[in-house]
Amino acid sequence: MQYSQLGKSGLRVSQLCLGAMTFGQGFHNIGVVAQAQADEMVRVALEAGVNFFDTADVYSQGQSEEILGSALRAAGVPRESVVVATKVRGAMSTEAAEGSGDTNNAGLSRKHVIEACHASLRRLGLDYIDLYQIHGFDPVTPLEETLEALNDLVRQGKVLYIGCSNLPARTLAKALAISAAHGGAAFSSLQAYYSLVGRDIEHELLPLCREEGLGVLPWSPLSGGYLSGKYRQGSPEVGRRNEFDFPPIAANAADALGPLEEVARERGVSIACVALAWLRQQPGVTSVIIGARNLEQLRDNLGAADLELSPDELQKLSAATQPPKLYPQWMIEFQGAARRRSS
Ligand SMILES: NC(=O)c1ccc[n+]([C@@H]2O[C@H](COP(=O)([O-])OP(=O)(O)OC[C@H]3O[C@@H](n4cnc5c(N)ncnc54)[C@H](OP(=O)(O)O)[C@@H]3O)[C@@H](O)[C@H]2O)c1
Repeated sequence: MQYSQLGKSGLRVSQLCLGAMTFGQGFHNIGVVAQAQADEMVRVALEAGVNFFDTADVYSQGQSEEILGSALRAAGVPRESVVVATKVRGAMSTEAAEGSGDTNNAGLSRKHVIEACHASLRRLGLDYIDLYQIHGFDPVTPLEETLEALNDLVRQGKVLYIGCSNLPARTLAKALAISAAHGGAAFSSLQAYYSLVGRDIEHELLPLCREEGLGVLPWSPLSGGYLSGKYRQGSPEVGRRNEFDFPPIAANAADALGPLEEVARERGVSIACVALAWLRQQPGVTSVIIGARNLEQLRDNLGAADLELSPDELQKLSAATQPPKLYPQWMIEFQGAARRRSS
């Protein structure tokens, strides 16, 4: 396992992070892993060198945090050896989710951020969270209010680093400017959907993070299992995407499967392993958040830690789903080339 700096911070995280969204029950059809199996999965991940674990308060309404905290204790790993990340924003009661009441039990208000952090600490059984992330954009809370609440949690030592997820580039840029202007804690990382068949972040978010020194943590790196290749012949017997077609995949997604299969055959590994290795090796990517419903999938995915694809293999895979240049990027390149020629 190799380790990377999380953005500009001094924190070092394994290049594969274990995502705990499958831990617990009741989160769509994703939560399927009970405590005993989670204990094994966390132990196997630690043995493979994983020091980075990601969860969220909304994953099975707190169960994922409880199970992850318990599994880390069962593994007997020293607190200082692991980096635990969780998230806030989702609705933490049915009424809040439906918008029928309990209105403050969701979102990114100062009230909810502070209360949610205390609740996550209790469920995880920890006295600090290494990386506390906002789970997305909250249209009703000013960014300043959220950032001030996060900064207070950092100053109180309840949170060591802050991160964000699912923000558009313009909002992330505004948030970084607000933190800089106020001298407050700034986001160290972005957690975003990124896979060989979900490459939207390459347009704006990824260049922004590289320029500003934020760590990038891709979520759903197999696009919910699609990049294992098991949907190629239709619906597999067991598969999350059979009932929950998420996250969206590119219109030309199937074009990725041939080259993936070819590289996988040549290297004697699974298609999933190649898809994860491609992502781990993309410039700007810090740690790929892997997900698994069982030990077999986890072991398969952990193989991506040691699989170094050659420049030719990377290029062949990238070319299969290369996103078109969006305006104004193609204009910037066109004008830039002329400018460089004249200098
Ligand atoms: N910030 C956010 O908004 C956000 C959103 C989503 C996820 N995340 C984070 O990202 C982590 C990973 O996301 P994800 O679970 O969606 O990742 P993923 O790798 O895209 O999908 C994982 C699912 O794919 C299938 N799978 C995994 N490995 C496989 C293999 N080797 N062969 C065949 N099938 C395989 C399993 O589902 P089946 O067996 O059911 O097919 C597994 O549950 C989460 O745990 C969470 O920490 C964050």
